[in-house]
Amino acid sequence: MIRSINEAAFGRPDEADLVDGLRSEGAVLLSLVAEVERQIVGHVLFSRMSIETSGGPVPAAALAPVAVLPDHQRRGIGEQLIRHGLDLLRARGERIVIVLGHPGYYPRFGFSSQKARSL
Ligand SMILES: CC(C)(COP(=O)(O)OP(=O)(O)OC[C@H]1O[C@@H](n2cnc3c(N)ncnc32)[C@H](O)[C@@H]1OP(=O)(O)O)[C@@H](O)C(=O)NCCC(=O)NCCS
Repeated sequence: MIRSINEAAFGRPDEADLVDGLRSEGAVLLSLVAEVERQIVGHVLFSRMSIETSGGPVPAAALAPVAVLPDHQRRGIGEQLIRHGLDLLRARGERIVIVLGHPGYYPRFGFSSQKARSL
């Protein structure tokens, strides 16, 4: 199901393959789905990553991919998935989340390239 959500949202299999790869590596921190009328319409995945800094490796979470079925986009589902995921990670003590994504979408969640530069 999660594969079909990612394939439909991105129009290609790459992101669904990424999900499978992260799962088989045991790197998944959090995988959330969104339901509308008992149908899964969205998915977000956060995985473990490590940032190399001058002070040594620092653990972080990576947000990718996030996908909402085309017919359900632009109704706040992606935003709810991301906000809920970030809240859960914060509650678990995660302090850094990295995303590679559209600069018009992610700043609303607190992401900024400026913050990434300061790591
Ligand atoms: C990106 C995505 C997850 C957003 O989910 P959503 O439920 O449609 O988004 P929301 O309703 O929470 O937010 C809507 C906002 O997303 C923005 N948005 C949607 N898709 C976007 C895209 N591909 N690039 C930039 N902004 C996008 C819209 O501009 C809208 O903002 P606005 O209303 O202020 O103009 C969803 O559109 C999707 O699955 N897209 C295809 C896959 C994808 O590109 N994933 C992200 C990879 S970085």
